[in-house]
Amino acid sequence: MQHVIIIGAGLAGLSAAAALAEKNISCALISLQNSERAQSVLAEGGINAALDTMGEQDSVQYHYEDTLKGGVWLADPNAVRNLTGHAPEIVRWLENLGVPFNMTDSDIMLRNFGGQKKKRTAYARSSTGKIIMTALIDQVRKYEASGLVHRYSHHNFIKLLLENQICSGVRIQNLYTGELLDFKGIVLLCSGGMNGIFPGVTTGTTQNSGDVTATVFRQGVALANLEMLQYHPTTIGISGKRCLVTEAARGEGGRLYIMKQNQKCYFMEEKYPELKNLMPRDVVAREMFFVRREFGGEVFLDMTELPELTWQKKLSDLRQEILHYLHLDPKTNPIPVREGIHYFMGGIDTDEFHRTNIKHLYAAGECSCQYHGANRLGGNSMLGALYGGRKAAETIINSADFISEENINYSGEIPPPASPVLIRNISQILVSGLGIVRNQRSLQTALENLHSLSEQKDYTFYEKNRLLLAEAMLLSALERKESRGAHYREDYPDKNEAFRKTTVSECETESQVRISFRPIPEMRSDT
Ligand code: FUM
Repeated sequence: MQHVIIIGAGLAGLSAAAALAEKNISCALISLQNSERAQSVLAEGGINAALDTMGEQDSVQYHYEDTLKGGVWLADPNAVRNLTGHAPEIVRWLENLGVPFNMTDSDIMLRNFGGQKKKRTAYARSSTGKIIMTALIDQVRKYEASGLVHRYSHHNFIKLLLENQICSGVRIQNLYTGELLDFKGIVLLCSGGMNGIFPGVTTGTTQNSGDVTATVFRQGVALANLEMLQYHPTTIGISGKRCLVTEAARGEGGRLYIMKQNQKCYFMEEKYPELKNLMPRDVVAREMFFVRREFGGEVFLDMTELPELTWQKKLSDLRQEILHYLHLDPKTNPIPVREGIHYFMGGIDTDEFHRTNIKHLYAAGECSCQYHGANRLGGNSMLGALYGGRKAAETIINSADFISEENINYSGEIPPPASPVLIRNISQILVSGLGIVRNQRSLQTALENLHSLSEQKDYTFYEKNRLLLAEAMLLSALERKESRGAHYREDYPDKNEAFRKTTVSECETESQVRISFRPIPEMRSDT
């Protein structure tokens, strides 16, 4: 028997499981894959914390301000205050778990990352996600051994169990045997982003299909800020996927240019003399789009001036990746880069305590939405997942409202997955409407195309999930008639204070989505 059911075993899920176990609270840790294959292992560049180990007089206050500004004041300021305030403690905790961060002579080394004026990103070469996950998996294994964490890998989330719209548990399915299990307990969703809706154009794993988010949406859980898709500026195309070229490449001195009248034009340095190539991602991605449209050709990332020691100690894995996939040595050759869908700032609507609109249901990590507003800063995602998992666990522990009932097992059939052809069609429609630059016409056309696709046949459960999320994303973008962060509308190119609000999506019927706006919480004095 378990007290808490965690769906997803990436950074947020593991962090929550560890935090619960530290307080002797048991959990079931349920995931489609082993933790070793979670999206979190793909994170490269690092994790932000104002450790101030580089003599730059950094502070938690600066981290807080940069995060809110980077998210163009759409994030929950109380949540961001907590996140940034606890960041140093989280990184020290990881250090204690044995994460081999790159070090100065005496302390954790920090690197530059986008949208931040100080060096604030702790890192382990350019495989930080994989290295942190290794330590965390090991830590949670101790709790598995002591019986506090019960692992259910290769199990699919089927649905929430609801009694009078209060969550009482989940139904999951063993992917090997088809066996269905009803688990009773408080539920914490840590199921990641919605990359599976964008096969071929995302840096993320398509195993993160968005199905958990879509299913709970259909069951009455509100979603928020779905129009806020992050395009990472530097990705390379490899067989049907976008592969991340970490922002650390620019943090360590890499420069973006495009050829203009046979000359290299360092467009970011010309236009943004202060942060240059390290402006927040939404700005860099948009500028790349604009210069390509104006001058034609590709944008290149030039790392040829980086010192040998940087390659050896800080970016060795990145060099191997580029050599492997592009057959180019970035030490001697600029590489062509394009934007790719990388992160979902929006997701399950949660407050600063990670509560959803359904009692006994919580969400943390990329599937939730409170920390990053309209644009996430690089290095804040692992922080958001690790801190979010802990914070949700703390809220659950403080609620002390556990449900204790036996689990029920019975046999079932594995439902068919969504058709790859349909998934690709939806992705194409979404990318044409929700590109880096949007307008009423592109969004409306995308919505009409989505509707004609929806009407073509009677779709399966998982296919309807995709159609519904796509509808909610397009409607959210149509309703936000301004430009803010990752949401840039040519027809409303300016930020509008009237839209400094959270976009809330609710599923009214199987095919009807209602969009409304909710004010951003006021900053409290006690956080
Ligand atoms: O570019 C990167 O290494 C990505 C980091 C992040 O998304 O936080």
